[in-house]
Amino acid sequence: MLIDIISVFPEYFDVFNLSLLGKAQDKGLLTFNVHNLRDWTHDVHHSVDDTPVGGGAGMVMKPEVWANCLDDLLDIPPLEDISDADPHIGENSHTTLVFPNPSAPTFTQADATELSYTDHLIFGCGRYEGYDGRIPAYYKAQGFDVREYSIGDYVLNGGEVAVSVMVEATTRLIDGFMGNRDSIVKESYTGSEGLLEHRQYTKPTSWRGMDVPEILLSGHHANIDRFRRDEELRRTSDIRPDIIEKLGCRMLDKKDRKLLVELGWDVSGEHPKH
Ligand SMILES: C[S@@+](CC[C@H](N)C(=O)[O-])C[C@H]1O[C@@H](n2cnc3c(N)ncnc32)[C@H](O)[C@@H]1O
Repeated sequence: MLIDIISVFPEYFDVFNLSLLGKAQDKGLLTFNVHNLRDWTHDVHHSVDDTPVGGGAGMVMKPEVWANCLDDLLDIPPLEDISDADPHIGENSHTTLVFPNPSAPTFTQADATELSYTDHLIFGCGRYEGYDGRIPAYYKAQGFDVREYSIGDYVLNGGEVAVSVMVEATTRLIDGFMGNRDSIVKESYTGSEGLLEHRQYTKPTSWRGMDVPEILLSGHHANIDRFRRDEELRRTSDIRPDIIEKLGCRMLDKKDRKLLVELGWDVSGEHPKH
């Protein structure tokens, strides 16, 4: 997978050379190109922002600088070379453009899974009051797959942290990225149910007066699976009832139903209801 990242702070992404992301690059699974947006400016101050049209505080990222950069990365010919008869240039593209934006839909594990099948991702990091709203709209109109995502209900100074989050969540799902693929098959938010994972424990089994749940020492795999499943249902019901509400009741076994009823859910319909 090729990942281009555009930022006014490209050094931010030096950390991608560490740990598993660094190893994935060594293995040839991933290539990162980090670009400084200011390289596409033509004025002496290398300015990428201007005051908001309509007034208001702060500065907004200029569309033209972004377009200079994105057209280059997307191999789009100069506008004067494109005729009206040409099809929309993005329609046959295998590139997905991603813009982090706090006022966009929240990025989820399902989005990460979808992006992990992409050949080429371009991430554009906003700064200041954000980027001009016409940037994603223009490339969408050209037929490109353009996404805007928030990583949560809070405002960061810039898109770099958000892009790091999305890159990490996406790339760890690429085939061959994790040494042991099992470690990503059964995790929180994954699979058809997307339940929160049960708690994990390691050795020593007794630590500062606290013991791991006894059943985990029994060696009885079916009972351990049941214990973990119950914990997943309990934790999800408690912390993320919205996930329980999406479960298909028909897919739940007898013990799942019994537990959910104990937790106050009605499982007689298509989906559990509280
Ligand atoms: C200071 S923020 C702009 C906030 C914007 N004025 C608003 O209120 O929605 C600057 C940039 O940081 C990034 N950013 C900030 N918070 C984010 C979040 N929760 N999720 C994704 N990106 C975020 C976006 O790229 C955004 O353009």
